[in-house]
Amino acid sequence: MAEVGIGSRAYIHLTGKAVLDMECRRDMRGAAPCAPVAKPSLWRRWWERGRSPVSLLILALLLVSSGTGFTWPWQVGGPWPSSSKIPVRALDHPTVEQTAAGRADQDVLRFVAYGDQRALADGEWQTMIDHIRRIDAGSPLAFILDTGDIVQDGRHSDQYWMLRGILEPVVHLPLLVAVGNHEIHNNDAPIARENTAAFLKYLDPAFSPTRMYYRKDIGPLRCLFLDSNDLVYGTETDGEYAPSPESDPALVAARVREQLVWLTQELAEASSWPGPVLVALHHPFVQSSRKHEESARFLWSFRPNGPQGPTFPEMLLEAGVDLVLVGHTHTYERFVLEKDGRRMQFVNLSGRPRTSFLWMGDGARRARDFRGAEVAKLGEEGWSDLDGWRIKQAAVMLENEQDQFAIFEVGSTGAISMDVRFLNGDDADTVRDSLSIPAQ
Ligand SMILES: [Fe+2]
Repeated sequence: MAEVGIGSRAYIHLTGKAVLDMECRRDMRGAAPCAPVAKPSLWRRWWERGRSPVSLLILALLLVSSGTGFTWPWQVGGPWPSSSKIPVRALDHPTVEQTAAGRADQDVLRFVAYGDQRALADGEWQTMIDHIRRIDAGSPLAFILDTGDIVQDGRHSDQYWMLRGILEPVVHLPLLVAVGNHEIHNNDAPIARENTAAFLKYLDPAFSPTRMYYRKDIGPLRCLFLDSNDLVYGTETDGEYAPSPESDPALVAARVREQLVWLTQELAEASSWPGPVLVALHHPFVQSSRKHEESARFLWSFRPNGPQGPTFPEMLLEAGVDLVLVGHTHTYERFVLEKDGRRMQFVNLSGRPRTSFLWMGDGARRARDFRGAEVAKLGEEGWSDLDGWRIKQAAVMLENEQDQFAIFEVGSTGAISMDVRFLNGDDADTVRDSLSIPAQ
């Protein structure tokens, strides 16, 4: 027994553990009998002893965060399972080749594009899929294009089963993916590339853990899908973006070389393609948000064919690429890139930053207004190789960010139109940005 006080509550301890709460009060004769009292609850003890401003602030934030869609920075994994109970199975959507016959009598090729929905898989992605299903029922879509980050962590095979469930309402539509960094776990876990390849191998006979780039010719449209992960995480020999030893840097270097040989050949052929050319890759090379801008700067100045060759964006422009679709940054913004009399449209469709604890987590992702001073702003942010470029930030989602998708139409002449819809409540029918690219 220890610590029995007079006129106050105390605990009787046996082997150091509180087992009984006693209260002793001095009576008229000076005696101080003790009687057991109910042990105060944790809540009461905190209220009586721990009411500091800091703990009150934490309590207020917890109350504010419950049931408001608020996400703590450490909760960005969302609802994805971190288990691998069931092996990955190939996605069973049809390919664009299998649905080609059904499009033969259509004058306009329609498709939907979005990206980075893995961060919004606790409801917004599902809502978007429902809108897409409804739009397709009204006027058929040829395919869905995803600019990447299709799961939270590609090491866990069960995440691909959750993804299959999300996509179930549009299982009749081909899904074309520019592989993102989350499904391949930033190239530092071979199992993630194996899972991604097993899921997406229906896209192309050659699709594999070592080859996640491919071409699709769909009506008048030629699409090149790149594995920008290997370009960003595989081309440095050291530093933040160097391949991890687990990924075997020599193997990654070989993969990069093979993709660049393929890309150089494809761009040479694209020059003579009569219709529009679209390139889809996960990582942007122009952006206004600060998060991930180092990889964007790297891709902007990357020279795939050596220091004397053109930069990566120059190669795309010279090949006559009309439209580049990217993701990764959790923003919506659109740039027009021009050099030497050529023009290329650059659209980032990657959802929105999540509201998170205070301002942490989403601020660096927030797009910024560069309009009117794009080249100067990019230069201040560390971009080089800007000489000769005209860069226009044509549209940007600056506040009240909403998840979004774009509906593209490609006419038989090759003209492209784009309407961007934001998911603002149930209103996904309002066009928030649009773009027209005339036939070349
Ligand atoms: Fe990403």
